Amino acid sequence: MNPNLSENPRESLNEFKLNTRNMKHIHLMVDSSETVSKELEECIAEIPVSLVGLHACGDLTPDLIKQFLKIKHIRNLVLVSCCYHKMKSNFPLSQKLKAAADETGFTLFSGHLLRLAAQEPVSRWLRMSPGEHEMHARNVVFRSILEIFSKQRGLELKKKRRKATKDDDVNSFYSYLSSLEAAYELSLEVEDKEILMEIYNSKLHLFNLVENLTGLQFILQNILENLVIADRVQFLQE
Ligand SMILES: C[S@@+](CC[C@H](N)C(=O)[O-])C[C@H]1O[C@@H](n2cnc3c(N)ncnc32)[C@H](O)[C@@H]1O
Repeated sequence: MNPNLSENPRESLNEFKLNTRNMKHIHLMVDSSETVSKELEECIAEIPVSLVGLHACGDLTPDLIKQFLKIKHIRNLVLVSCCYHKMKSNFPLSQKLKAAADETGFTLFSGHLLRLAAQEPVSRWLRMSPGEHEMHARNVVFRSILEIFSKQRGLELKKKRRKATKDDDVNSFYSYLSSLEAAYELSLEVEDKEILMEIYNSKLHLFNLVENLTGLQFILQNILENLVIADRVQFLQE
């Protein structure tokens, strides 16, 4: 925090606006290349400088870490990462974790594993009411049934809206069926809906498993995210 800023919030905001008036914005596709190092170096107006990134997703965080190591004028690095599953490579980064993975024969670079690292924390799951758990279980089972149907038909599911399924759509499988054409680029005949209903009836036993499986996923989230972060810290130390 700037100690020179006023304690009055309005004055402080005005001073902040004045201070940022000369801020320069550039659009840059960041990778770990020399070209990007040069472009970043050209942005450094005053020394020393800090590199800050909020929700630097996928490979952006590891690429910024590599740039931090190359550009000597960047003294501090503050990154909040996200979407680990969008990484194309860069995990593991450290020699230590690479060696441990080789020794155990465990494949760490997996989209499923990294997706689990990026999901919501267990605290969110613990706050859910019994009704919210039931709604979540219905959502997962209904979506799985649609996935089975689309795989059987060779259909690619394209959403029509950002959040395909609204809360009311999962009150029952009938309401879910009625919502599908508004949610996805799909045209369903009566017989298609009958097939979806048949799949649903054959999968009813899954309901009892879903929240247990989800609970396990939530427990793994923290462990896997910490593994990704510890690997990055170890890489910086190496
Ligand atoms: C999850 S969003 C975060 C946006 C914002 N910082 C926030 O917290 O709301 C990640 C942003 O990083 C950008 N991005 C991802 N990879 C990038 C890269 N290699 N170079 C530059 N921008 C990138 C995306 O386009 C997106 O705008």
